[in-house]
Amino acid sequence: MRKGWMLIMCGFVGLLALTALASEKAPSDFVSAMQTIAAAQAAATKATAAEDYDTVEKHAAAIVDAFPVIEKYWSARSPDVLPMVRSAAKAASDLRVSSQQRSLEGVAYSAKELSAACANCHAAHRETMPDGTFQIK
Ligand code: HEC
Repeated sequence: MRKGWMLIMCGFVGLLALTALASEKAPSDFVSAMQTIAAAQAAATKATAAEDYDTVEKHAAAIVDAFPVIEKYWSARSPDVLPMVRSAAKAASDLRVSSQQRSLEGVAYSAKELSAACANCHAAHRETMPDGTFQIK
């Protein structure tokens, strides 16, 4: 009986280790959505410095539009990551609303939330390969 449990535990630990090690190449639509998001975030930051709210709004909208690809990927692969996707998408949509309201404070706040959401997910699910490219873990 005892031995049986040991075997089960070993199997379980082995499985966890495998899951932790397995990273996979991102599909090309995932990569291009990330690149769109990053470019739009950089452009929005630049426009914020110039208090050009129309431009901030345009780029915030592009970020919002890019997230469905990411959401679709995680719904199929591991739905437990969806809250992270949604908090990032929500921050982008708050950024959009704040720019419509011409609120510098709101824009600054949601931009900060957005960066934190990117960093959270990258820390948990982005793996940097030895050649500097990224994979999904
Ligand atoms: C829900 C998880 C998640 C969120 C949120 C997220 N990312 Fe990513 N991102 C990833 C994963 C996983 C990869 C690795 C796969 C890849 O390279 O596309 C990645 C890759 C990237 C890359 C590299 C793309 C390439 O050329 O390979 C950039 C740039 C990037 N993310 C920017 C951002 C920015 C900016 C944000 C926030 C506005 C963000 N990401 C939010 C998961 C996320």
